[in-house]
Amino acid sequence: RYKMILDLDTGIDDALALAYAIGHDDIDLIGIIASYGNNLMPVTAANSLNLLDLLGAKDVPVFHGAAHSTTTEDFDTMPVSKLIHGKNGVGNVDVPKSKRQVEQQSGIDFLIESAHQYQEKLIYLPTGPLTNLALALKKDPAIGQLIGQTTLMGGALTVPGNVTPFTEANINQDPEAANTVFKEQERLTMVGLDVTLRTLLTKKETAAWRALGSKKAQLYADIMDFYIDAYATLDIDKRGAALHDPLAVAVAVQPDYIDTLPLNMIVTTDRESGDYGRTIGDTSKLLEPVTSKAAILVDQDRFVADFQKMMLKVL
Ligand code: BDR
Ligand code: CA
Repeated sequence: RYKMILDLDTGIDDALALAYAIGHDDIDLIGIIASYGNNLMPVTAANSLNLLDLLGAKDVPVFHGAAHSTTTEDFDTMPVSKLIHGKNGVGNVDVPKSKRQVEQQSGIDFLIESAHQYQEKLIYLPTGPLTNLALALKKDPAIGQLIGQTTLMGGALTVPGNVTPFTEANINQDPEAANTVFKEQERLTMVGLDVTLRTLLTKKETAAWRALGSKKAQLYADIMDFYIDAYATLDIDKRGAALHDPLAVAVAVQPDYIDTLPLNMIVTTDRESGDYGRTIGDTSKLLEPVTSKAAILVDQDRFVADFQKMMLKVL
């Protein structure tokens, strides 16, 4: 079994990634690091704790990560995030409060310690901004080679961004941090909008969750329906809502869901360039060994069907 750390900005699709990881037989979820992003960091941490308890995974620890990007002093949730994920990050649904506490150790130190302990067995899986990993790399550059595999949800290589024409939301939160990660983290797989926008869930699937009758199924269906409604209202996609974050978890352990393009990448950090935050090939490394890849195609029908099976098992 792989050891996995999820770095989440929970967040509705982050909540799905959490459920998927808990249900997967090949994944030993050793901890959650919280990030700012879809909401304030303490809110996303509390959401992850509450959801873990709801799903019966009360032994998985949650750690605080960065509360803002590496180039700012502060962070406030974007209005559009509240429209997509609800004011509380989980579709304005009241998930019962966990009695557990967030760990004392910082998420950055937990990541560094886990990289040394598990090395090639460790999968680090960020589904929010890349600030936590960039801070960890700054503190201990050795983890760039130590972590077995880093599979991230973020970026857009072959399709437009969802924040600007070039920028996807997670990368947009901290392009400088993302660039550090793209340059220094080996064995990186980018699972971006190129593939995640092809994996859609509808109310047909959430109706089947609700029919299971459990409290967790009911709450997850309410949370997901908020997200599906937001996708339709905001005219992002009227056919369904994207399974961004759970797709990244799935391909980390089942890479045959995707086709990838081997490519060393960078993130544009020139604020004046008009494409600040863009994920793109690194021309300075065209002659060097390729250490990262980007997902460009996904077997979407198979993934969505398998995702639904997993949710019916977990809920
Ligand atoms: C990504 O941005 C966040 O809002 C989602 O949770 C997902 O990780 C999609 O661009
Ligand atoms: Ca996310």
